[in-house]
Amino acid sequence: MQLFHGNIVYSVSERELAEHTDSYIAVENGTVEGIYPVIPEKLGGAPVTDLGDGVIIPAFSDLHVHAPQYPQRGLVMDELLYDWLHKYTFPLEARFADMEFARAVYDAFIDDMILHGTMHAAVFGTIHREAAGYLISRMEEKGLYAYVGKVNMDTDSPEYLCETAEDSVRETEVFLEQYSANRTAKPVLTPRFAPTCSGELLSGLGKLGAKYGVGVQTHLVESLWEAAEAKKHFPDCSCDTEIYEKAGLLDNGPVIGAHFIFPEEEDIRILKKYNGYAVQCPDATVNVIAGIMRTAALSERGISLGLGSDIAGGANLGIYSQISRSVQLSKLKEFYEPGENRAIPFSQAFYMGTKQGGSLFGRVGSLEPGYLFNALVIDGLAGPFEKLTPGQTVERFCYLGETGHIRARFLAGKKIG
Ligand code: GUN
Ligand code: FE
Repeated sequence: MQLFHGNIVYSVSERELAEHTDSYIAVENGTVEGIYPVIPEKLGGAPVTDLGDGVIIPAFSDLHVHAPQYPQRGLVMDELLYDWLHKYTFPLEARFADMEFARAVYDAFIDDMILHGTMHAAVFGTIHREAAGYLISRMEEKGLYAYVGKVNMDTDSPEYLCETAEDSVRETEVFLEQYSANRTAKPVLTPRFAPTCSGELLSGLGKLGAKYGVGVQTHLVESLWEAAEAKKHFPDCSCDTEIYEKAGLLDNGPVIGAHFIFPEEEDIRILKKYNGYAVQCPDATVNVIAGIMRTAALSERGISLGLGSDIAGGANLGIYSQISRSVQLSKLKEFYEPGENRAIPFSQAFYMGTKQGGSLFGRVGSLEPGYLFNALVIDGLAGPFEKLTPGQTVERFCYLGETGHIRARFLAGKKIG
């Protein structure tokens, strides 16, 4: 048992941010045991780590990020999706056939993710199985909670970044066999999106999902172009999400749909039926997509939401900045498309980036009893003119925080980074 003394902030629900000032959080075997205003008698002998004025918050969850696109952060952000992919992103991803390059990029990506306070992530690799294997192995070694995928693409892709359906399924099966026994970083099926996947490929992946009990991550109704292209490729499906349902990809594990900006009623119904997550990637939305998720409406419909950095559609690895951007975008959505769209409170965006997104990985993303102590200590945010409550410190961190404001990081109770 160990005790940490400081201020503690975490999400309880969309509307409730719990705040404990000058308190003690008890951690046993890496898991939160309780929070106390004074040290209770039963814990009198436990060692205390004093974090002073620091605010202890849960580590963040990034539900959609492309590790291989790490070298492209903040570049060519004046293009839209199709051109951005074909002119820049696909040529970069082709370089992951080279393991020396892949190792260097993935090591840097993982270090930077931890630096930004993210300890749980749903990650895309590239089509290259060996490189994706390195990525998942490194994340597992570090004890990071992750779903990691070898990407599948077998049609409408440039020759230098395209597989046959047969090779793609076979390589994916090898990937699943190698890493299915992982403890924290687990494999997930990762068809890139409907425009670059054939029906043969998707049904092959659906069979693997059932055989190995793994879920799926993909880009779902992310742009009007993508949604139209998906329907053109799969004329017997009434919407993008149905393509994955028909392929048998939604019944075997977590379902992670990135963006979900232009869903039809059917998309919402199907995603809900399989308890899928819709992932808002606020920066990518304003960089390469130009559409805004209906966050308030989707959450009212019972869809689980998470936040993603979508590196390199988004430029910033910090989920804390996606939290503030999510609030900002919800206001634009309400103003320009009133009706069911409403601005969301800060508490809801923080919930998406911590507890709700974290629920994908198990008991992570909150500091309630029973949750893993995967946590950050933030400070240095108050100026000379104001005193901030712990909750205000967290809100300010999400608007103008930098990695330097994260003073310490704990993973399963152990200090890291
Ligand atoms: N859709 C298909 N591929 C991608 C990608 O790499 N990034 C984003 N944002 N959308 C995609
Ligand atoms: Fe993406």
